[in-house]
Amino acid sequence: MTAAPHGIHLRLKGLRKVFQTQKVLQGIELEVSPGEFVAIVGQSGCGKSTLLRLISGLVPPTSGSIELDGERSDQLNSDVRMMFQEPRLLPWQSVLDNIELGLVGQRADSLGILRHKARQVLAAVGLSDRAKDWPAVLSGGQRQRVSLARALVSKPRLLLLDEPLGALDALTRVEMQQLLEHLWQAQGFTAFLITHDAEEAVALADRVVLIQNGRVALDIPVKLPRPRQRGNAAFVKTVETLIHRILEKDNQSEVKSSVSLDDSAAYAVPVVEDTEIMLGGASSSGHH
Ligand SMILES: Nc1ncnc2c1ncn2[C@@H]1O[C@H](COP(=O)(O)OP(=O)(O)OP(=O)(O)O)[C@@H](O)[C@H]1O
Ligand SMILES: [Mg+2]
Repeated sequence: MTAAPHGIHLRLKGLRKVFQTQKVLQGIELEVSPGEFVAIVGQSGCGKSTLLRLISGLVPPTSGSIELDGERSDQLNSDVRMMFQEPRLLPWQSVLDNIELGLVGQRADSLGILRHKARQVLAAVGLSDRAKDWPAVLSGGQRQRVSLARALVSKPRLLLLDEPLGALDALTRVEMQQLLEHLWQAQGFTAFLITHDAEEAVALADRVVLIQNGRVALDIPVKLPRPRQRGNAAFVKTVETLIHRILEKDNQSEVKSSVSLDDSAAYAVPVVEDTEIMLGGASSSGHH
């Protein structure tokens, strides 16, 4: 068995989702390379969670397609796992049993192998000594670690993350970001992270994608070396640039929609911008 490439190649083509009369996604085009880390940002209600549910196969698209490694996918796939803002642990099962739930649907292993895999990933998230505890006695951050362990125990090739760190305090969040980056580098899965936090996007992602008006409005590579140093000037500058570009795009779209409400006009102009956020941009010397 070869180790690489472990991550899945994801391709979204003309993905649309309409709920009753509400057009939420209106033609998402996106390609994610195996092992790439993509962050998705966008206003509340723009369809980010819907997009994740479509990719996971939980919900069918109205039209368009999702391809995993070049094959059309329209159902749940055991290579794909999801993690949410709430840990969603079963309160009546121990930490270790909760993690083993992540192996349900996988090839039948002996009980001993299941335990071994669960213990391994529990150690990877730094909670070996909490295996027998109930979820109720863990802190919020520890519960999210268990939730991450459950998502990763089956060695998924695509990890979908719906604001998994949004409810954590700032320090715990930074710790979890570092853990997530470490496990992503170790396992090589493709990561698809929804976040409201520009700093989190810049800390973790290879690319930041803005969803707006149901489409990909910006697709910006982040070229900072890893591990990314939050305090340094280049990092701060990159976060500022990202926020600036998102706000700029917001303003542009207000003007555009007042000029033309015609869908076909929007297709005629390139909606994806691809300008890199680089180290040492115009006004940054790179270091303090
Ligand atoms: N099952 C559903 N039935 C009807 N409408 C839905 C359904 N799921 C989502 N929507 C609608 O689709 C829109 C997008 O919802 P979604 O949860 O994807 O937004 P989001 O970008 O994740 O927002 P947030 O940042 O607040 O989490 C919302 O207006 C929501 O009401
Ligand atoms: Mg959401």
